[in-house]
Amino acid sequence: MSIEFTERVEAIPVYPAARSYGFEGEVTKLASNETPYPPQRAVLEAVQAAMSGLNRYPDPTAAVLRRGLAERHGVAQAKVAVGNGSCEILLAAAQAMLEPGAEIVYAWPSFSMYPHLAAMTGARALAVPLDEGGRHDLEALAREVTVATRIVLVCNPNNPTATALEVEEIDAFVAGLPRHVLVIVDEAYVEFSVLQDPDESLALLERHPNVVLLRTFSKVYGLCGLRAGYALGPESFRLAVDRVRQPFSVNALAQAAAAEALRHQDELERRVERTVIERVYVQDELADRGLAVSDSQANFSWVALGEDLDEAEVYEGLARRGVIVREGTALGAPGHLRVTYGTRAENDRFLTALDEAMG
Ligand SMILES: Cc1ncc(COP(=O)(O)O)c(C=O)c1O
Repeated sequence: MSIEFTERVEAIPVYPAARSYGFEGEVTKLASNETPYPPQRAVLEAVQAAMSGLNRYPDPTAAVLRRGLAERHGVAQAKVAVGNGSCEILLAAAQAMLEPGAEIVYAWPSFSMYPHLAAMTGARALAVPLDEGGRHDLEALAREVTVATRIVLVCNPNNPTATALEVEEIDAFVAGLPRHVLVIVDEAYVEFSVLQDPDESLALLERHPNVVLLRTFSKVYGLCGLRAGYALGPESFRLAVDRVRQPFSVNALAQAAAAEALRHQDELERRVERTVIERVYVQDELADRGLAVSDSQANFSWVALGEDLDEAEVYEGLARRGVIVREGTALGAPGHLRVTYGTRAENDRFLTALDEAMG
């Protein structure tokens, strides 16, 4: 006899973890779309100050952080949900909205957590191929929406292809959908896009009662080690999400760090600027090597290796030289690599290792 699990758990994919962990010696970590820049001193000080209160539970309403987010984005605090990373909000949305008979629609390849949502709830997933440029095919997505659809995910910019849509395109797309469908616009990388000012998509909230914008402190804010994300959208969404998860999911240090980081928008702009400079540099270097890259609006490149290069060989060749990137196969697109931008020194290490790995 052995312990038993539900049938449903068998269907849930295992999250494809990067190989960046447990290494000894110097490793260049370009696999997880993190920022290479460490947290600012003021953020570390806020964490230090919060540490002396760790004998107390964190504020389950995350009032200070939510107030900061409400002020920063000009929305009512009641419309701000926070989570243990934006992933937690995604999973909670699935718990709250999906069930057998319900459907969820998203583009593919996209963020590797999306298939979990249907699998864990018994709902049906409709994964719609990206277009040839690696962009969302909004018309094809709209065609999959039925009376059973509860959630449509739009990843903008898209992970792993790094491409982005204009806000007007998303606006027209949502306007054409029935109002019973919640559109979650996953904006984990929105700050890096030069196609829009990050505040531009806030207008979607005013125009559509069925839109949620999902954002995170893990990327441009550089706090993924602490886990904090947030959603802006209808109050009913926040209340539902709060009902299906544990009350203290955002820990006290994460709340303190995120609230402090919000106060330093100027630093954010500097980080975006540096990332965009590295993006232009790496994209040009890759193109000079004859590799096809998508139009990146994020903090990573999506590289098509073409027929002459073997994904596993290049990936392993990089790993042997201490550079960890992501294989396309793990992300649903064999023959590709996803490479996060690091500092200039890290990017040069990657490019040198790539030259060697490509022979
Ligand atoms: C598109 C997208 N959404 C959401 C997340 C989740 O981020 P977190 O849970 O760290 O906020 C990621 C992380 O890589 C992502 O790529």
